[in-house]
Amino acid sequence: MQTAIMSLTTSLCALLLLLSSSSAEIFNKSWWNSTVFYQVYPKSFYDSNGDGVGDLNGITLKLQYVKNSGINAIWLSPIFSSPMADGGYDISNFTEIAPIFGTLEDFEKLVMRAHKLGLKVVLDFVPNHTSDQHPWFQKALQGDEKYKEYYIWADGKNKDDKTPPNNWLSLFNIPAWTYVPSLKQWYLHQFGTIQPDLNYSNPEVVEEMRNALKFWLDKGVDGFRVDSAPYIFEDKELRDEPRSYAPDSTPDQYTYLEPIYTADLKPTYELFGSWRKYLDGYADERNLDQKMLVMETYSSLEHTLEYYDYDVLPFNFLFITNVTNSSTATDFKNTIDLWINSVPYGKSNNWVLGNHDRPRVASRFPGRLDQMTMLSMILPGMAVTYNGDEIGMVDDRNISWADTQDPLARIAGKDHYAAISRDPERTPFQWSAEENAGFSTANSTWLPVNPNYKTLNLQAEERSYQSHYKIYKTLAYLHRKEPALIQGSYASFTTNNGTVLDVIRSSDARTVLLLINFEDDISQTVDLSDYNLPAIMKLKVASLGSRSSLKEWVDKKNIYLPEKAALIYTSFNIQ
Ligand code: NOJ
Repeated sequence: MQTAIMSLTTSLCALLLLLSSSSAEIFNKSWWNSTVFYQVYPKSFYDSNGDGVGDLNGITLKLQYVKNSGINAIWLSPIFSSPMADGGYDISNFTEIAPIFGTLEDFEKLVMRAHKLGLKVVLDFVPNHTSDQHPWFQKALQGDEKYKEYYIWADGKNKDDKTPPNNWLSLFNIPAWTYVPSLKQWYLHQFGTIQPDLNYSNPEVVEEMRNALKFWLDKGVDGFRVDSAPYIFEDKELRDEPRSYAPDSTPDQYTYLEPIYTADLKPTYELFGSWRKYLDGYADERNLDQKMLVMETYSSLEHTLEYYDYDVLPFNFLFITNVTNSSTATDFKNTIDLWINSVPYGKSNNWVLGNHDRPRVASRFPGRLDQMTMLSMILPGMAVTYNGDEIGMVDDRNISWADTQDPLARIAGKDHYAAISRDPERTPFQWSAEENAGFSTANSTWLPVNPNYKTLNLQAEERSYQSHYKIYKTLAYLHRKEPALIQGSYASFTTNNGTVLDVIRSSDARTVLLLINFEDDISQTVDLSDYNLPAIMKLKVASLGSRSSLKEWVDKKNIYLPEKAALIYTSFNIQ
């Protein structure tokens, strides 16, 4: 190991950086702005009845854990009636609880307990499609005209069963149309064939879905995460989509076409804008806190930001889509600034590290989990955590074909499923070293438990002097309580020839400094004497394994940064 003391940018440069456009005052208008928002994947969280599948009572039992972790809001992946062909994202009744998860009463108890603990509860709402088992679709299949109008039907190009109405592709890499012989027509599905798209040009559908929102609002929920937001409306003329010319994409892959007629259409934004107003009206009339409405979208930055025009919050997935383990300090700075500088002034911000659709953050950034947690908690706005990431769970890449559940993987087939499967990030939560990681007492669980649970589990991390979980917890409290993070200014820059990323948040003489060493094998010394920082700062959090070589107090002229380390220093007035 070698210590490299590297030259620094000049003081003028430093001052300019602090005054640059990456410095912005951040406001806190909505409860979610300073929230730690935690995604619970119900099937894998905690099994209270020993059937091998997580359930609502299991979540309720673990709410104290959630609260103790410093989290103050949860969102639940779908818990509604469903054949579970796409993990519950195929709903057969929007206002019923799936029996595998429990009952409506169980849900009411969950909400009551959460609220008692000061936790907000947000539901995953799936407006784009229903399950093919939904009574609406079943009636449509029987030719019931009213319910046929709930979905999108079209004649084949040659009015036969061979040529679909157009070239549209589903996000599950299959044609977006399926033929129904008895009706001699094709129905649209932007995901699996078992997920027919709803027709939002039909006012009855708009009303049905609004009633479903009201149903859950009346049960006391604090908002909605909206699934597959961009795909609500499609081109009425059903025009063919153009080629994308995306490198390596084959004709059956979704990315082969540019989805200009099936995603991000104006009426989609307008619909969600109307939902925003509806939620605001609902809360105002009852004098309640504002309700959250957050969109799942992997659209271009431009389309993602368009939600702000309608006062709707889009998830920020840039830490999933725009940076990898080989990204540099500059790549990170550019990605962060891109988002911060794009979000309209005064609007809410957020940083998502992972979810049930993407490889886990600890797997995407080996050895850099704490760094990623620090970024999500230190940057302005809401921090979003996928359950299990707080203890550093990793993907189980050895799930067999026989055990594979994810429909996307099953469509890809036995030879190709492994690369595409989302099961590796959905395995049961690792609570302890007991059987089934303490998740369930069943003989087998719905997805196998990751075999690493004997050493990687919450209980071990709670007992350990240092752990990812302890780091997470410290950061979560800091994120929520520290004024410099809630409303402070933001500035970032790179030092040490672009190998160290430095982030400063400050407000009223309170300062939080994050330093990340992007060198994997070289420790560094950083000189920040030219920056507007307290001369002496206190070590608050250090990435796992780096603390033992560090002093409690540092001089800003001479900050030692072990290889790969991420460190947080604060002004002395921050406890
Ligand atoms: C997005 C969800 O996150 C994903 O899991 C699901 O497969 C699709 N939407 C379809 O609903």
